[in-house]
Amino acid sequence: MQCRYFKKCASCTLHDMSYAKQLEFKATTIKNEFKIKNLDIIKSKEIHFRNRAEFRIFHEDDKIFYAMHSFDKKLLKIDECLITSPAIYKIMPKLLKELSINSELKRKLFAVEFLSSSTNNLLITLIYHKKIDQLWQEEAEKLATKLKIDLIGRSKKVKKVITKESIDESFKIENISYKYFLKDNSFIQPNAFVNQQMIKWVCKNIKNLDSDLLELYCGHGNFTLPLSKKFKKVLATEISKSSIKLAKEHVKLNNITNIEFVRLSSQELIEALQQTRVFKRLRDIDLKKYNFSHIFVDPPRAGVDEKTLKFLKEFKNIIYISCNPKTLKRDLEILKDKFKIVQFAIFDQFAYTNHVECGVILTQK
Ligand SMILES: C[S@@+](CC[C@H](N)C(=O)[O-])C[C@H]1O[C@@H](n2cnc3c(N)ncnc32)[C@H](O)[C@@H]1O
Repeated sequence: MQCRYFKKCASCTLHDMSYAKQLEFKATTIKNEFKIKNLDIIKSKEIHFRNRAEFRIFHEDDKIFYAMHSFDKKLLKIDECLITSPAIYKIMPKLLKELSINSELKRKLFAVEFLSSSTNNLLITLIYHKKIDQLWQEEAEKLATKLKIDLIGRSKKVKKVITKESIDESFKIENISYKYFLKDNSFIQPNAFVNQQMIKWVCKNIKNLDSDLLELYCGHGNFTLPLSKKFKKVLATEISKSSIKLAKEHVKLNNITNIEFVRLSSQELIEALQQTRVFKRLRDIDLKKYNFSHIFVDPPRAGVDEKTLKFLKEFKNIIYISCNPKTLKRDLEILKDKFKIVQFAIFDQFAYTNHVECGVILTQK
């Protein structure tokens, strides 16, 4: 990929290497860092791979432009972004053209967020530094109809949904189709293609079991749904109210009956399992019926906190997905006295940057 904003736009940092070299660099770094010999390497598409993107809007006289931060922390005007998914890439100029000629939609427009599914459905959020009112809504409705898009308007404490606030996503894992709704207010993996490869990698490395799975940081059930086919039952927990609400809709949508989703932080879940605190949210769930053989964690960049790490040590098998090798390394240091690494993978979710996502399967020594 050759982008004309390389070296200017701060979003991509590994622009001086070919894609093959980037992967080699990341694989060598991770192998050295974690002192491992074997690594599964899951590639991204080389262009048009990001299904979530946000751009600032730069106002100059009466004109507007998309903008990104430059290396010197200023706003850099851009006309296109090659890492965005085909659907986002195609709609960007059409949307800008329509916004440019509409004073109501253009005024005080601060940023635009794009979300697309792997099947190229689109949800666009326009973010304003002004109140959005009835007049805005009428213009936004016309725009959504003209461009055939789902649109949301956001300003301080106000959210107006034009058409609908979610898009449909679907993909197949081990010959089974899964359907999801993607929403702007819950966590979504940024690279749809790599996301599916991550789920496939985890599923491939777990045989069908007669035991149960405990999942922490489950989001909207991205991994949970396919993983439910590998276990007898799954208890999946997550801190975000909106993600758990969506996860519960996803089990119904996919007719899955062996998952229970509960909104609990990892710390609260431990308190519940250790019976040191009672939660109303658990009144319909019998925690004693579970026979967990595996725990699956996919924490935020901060990694797993100390209390939860101690709790992880009680499991026979751990599947750890990490978006931050630094905190992964710190956490594996704590687990290494009791666990050995069975499988290690890098998933190139963030091509053209230094970031890398890792997957580690650990089992008790
Ligand atoms: C990297 S995302 C992974 C989500 C999901 N596995 C997926 O693939 O979409 C991390 C998730 O952890 C949740 N989270 C953050 N802190 C948490 C905590 N202390 N306890 C439970 N969940 C937490 C976030 O809301 C977010 O959904």
